[in-house]
Amino acid sequence: MTFDLLVVGDANPDVVLTGVPRPIPFGQRERLVDGAALTVGGSGAITACGAARLGLRTAFAGRVGADAAGRYMLSALAERGVDVSGCVVDPATPTALTVVLADGEDRAILTFPGCLPLLRAGDLDPALVAAARHVHVSSYFLQPRLAADLPDWFAAIRRSGATTSLDTNDDPAGAWDGGVGAAIAQADVLLPNEAEALALAGLDDVLAAGKALATSAGLVVVKRGAAGAVAWRDGSPLSVPAVPARPVDTVGAGDSFNAGFLAGWLGGRDLAASLRLAAACGALSTRAAGGTAAQPTMAEALGTGVD
Ligand SMILES: Nc1ncnc2c1ncn2[C@@H]1O[C@H](COP(=O)(O)OP(=O)(O)O)[C@@H](O)[C@H]1O
Ligand SMILES: [Mg+2]
Repeated sequence: MTFDLLVVGDANPDVVLTGVPRPIPFGQRERLVDGAALTVGGSGAITACGAARLGLRTAFAGRVGADAAGRYMLSALAERGVDVSGCVVDPATPTALTVVLADGEDRAILTFPGCLPLLRAGDLDPALVAAARHVHVSSYFLQPRLAADLPDWFAAIRRSGATTSLDTNDDPAGAWDGGVGAAIAQADVLLPNEAEALALAGLDDVLAAGKALATSAGLVVVKRGAAGAVAWRDGSPLSVPAVPARPVDTVGAGDSFNAGFLAGWLGGRDLAASLRLAAACGALSTRAAGGTAAQPTMAEALGTGVD
């Protein structure tokens, strides 16, 4: 079996409650809310689902617990066409879980990392890694052991002829440790959002940050929400506007964008066309609550007029 894409990273259920009273009422009285959903969460899991939906032969490898949350994640990924045979089931540590408390546009996001921080590159089946044309790693700062392994592991993957990408996502500790630079230097594509690009570069201007990061990573793609995206290769920026959307929920937009970009790039599209496809996938993913419910097929994404 050959995979176009192996995603390595975070997978956890998201429990999303909407219409949550503010301030959050502690005090042991029961309150009713407007809505609740159990959805596929974790940047890596959402990216993998988006890629499979776009038609890439996709595998996901990460760590889940031997519990109901872990079984939910494995079956939800498999239902969406993602191969999960390389996932590690941790017998002793629970699956990560995120609770999202939403009130209109604003939300509190509370994550228990569970077994995510225990993932190591050595957990991953070498045969699975060797079977992938491209390896994408998500959520660097939630997985410190994998993070420590990443520069050498990415370098080995590249030596074997495959390519690599990294979406660090946010650093909940706000520390943005210097070690990430060595991982970025082994990434063929770096996919931060704007705030993350600024923090990674230690700069306060996105154009300067993208340019600085592109001296290290092969290609830098910065996601800018409703302002679209901008990429750097060879020093000069290439911007694409957002595909217009009336978002219901932007959770996972960046991960769906990643899937679109990788589908374009691995499919042989040029940089501009890959960015347009990514922007369409990010925008379309906002049509429904949760990260995966509204992820587009390739036909739907191309139907927005991107080529
Ligand atoms: N409100 C929006 N309208 C249209 N496109 C959007 C919107 N929000 C996000 N997107 C698309 O999704 C991409 C990723 O969203 P962004 O919020 O920047 O990333 P992240 O989810 O990682 O924070 C954007 O670059 C854009 O193409
Ligand atoms: Mg993101």
